[in-house]
Amino acid sequence: MSWPSSTMSACWSDISSIFIRDKLGPLRRSAVAYCVRADSVVVETRVPISKDDFRQVMGHFVTGVTVITTAHDGEVRGMTANSVTSVSLEPLSVLVCVNHEAITHRILSAGRVFCVNVLSDDQEALSRACAKPDTPEAGLEGVLYHVGETGAPIIDGAIAYLDCKVTSQFEFGTHTLFIGEPTEGGATTGEPLVFYRGKYTKLREWAPA
Ligand SMILES: Cc1cc2nc3c(=O)[nH]c(=O)nc-3n(C[C@H](O)[C@H](O)[C@H](O)COP(=O)(O)O)c2cc1C
Repeated sequence: MSWPSSTMSACWSDISSIFIRDKLGPLRRSAVAYCVRADSVVVETRVPISKDDFRQVMGHFVTGVTVITTAHDGEVRGMTANSVTSVSLEPLSVLVCVNHEAITHRILSAGRVFCVNVLSDDQEALSRACAKPDTPEAGLEGVLYHVGETGAPIIDGAIAYLDCKVTSQFEFGTHTLFIGEPTEGGATTGEPLVFYRGKYTKLREWAPA
C-alpha cells in the first residue's frame, strides 16, 4: 500500500473503501478521509465540516442583536437578525441577510425599505418574539414604534437605528443579501443585547469586577 501526498487527487470511481480520521481540537472539528483505491493507493481528502460544526464555529463570532423592521402596503413586520454589517462609507451602505422563507422577506422585497434596530440589553423578550413567525410582536402588535422617512418602523428603546432604502440585492443559497442606503439614523448610550454561542448575554455580565 503506498501513501500519497496530500495534494494527490482522488479517482473516485476506483475507490474501494474510505475511512475517516477526525482531527479533533478545542475548536477544530474538520476531518480527513483516506480513500483506498483498487490499486491500494491511499488518497487523502478533506471532508467538509457539517452544518452543526459551522453553526458552532460562527457562534463564537460575538454579535449584537437587531430587529429588522420593514413595511409595505399597510403591513409591518419585525425579524430578529444578526447577519448585519456595514459595507461601505461611499456610498453609505449596510447589509442584512434574510432567509427566503421569512415572512419579512416577502414584505421587504415588495417595500424595499428596512430599518436596522439595534436592541438594548433589556429587549431580549422582543428579540425572542421576533425570532418566531407566529407571535404578535413579529407583526409589531403591542410594540411601540414610530416611522421615519422610509416608512419602516423605528422601535422605541432600541439603542441605535438606521432607516434604509434598498439599493441592491443579491441571491445566495437560502438567503437574499439586501444592501440599504440609510436615510436617517441615530444612537443612544444604552447597553446592547449580545448574542454569543447561541445564547443571549449582556456586556455588563462580562465586565471586570
Ligand atoms: C439571534 C438571532 C439572529 C438571527 N439572525 C437572522 C438573520 O440574520 N437572518 C435571518 O433570515 N434570520 C435570522 N434569524 C432567524 C429569524 O429571526 C426567524 O427565522 C424569524 O422568525 C424570521 O422572520 P419572520 O417572522 O418574518 O418569518 C435569527 C434568529 C436569532 C434568534
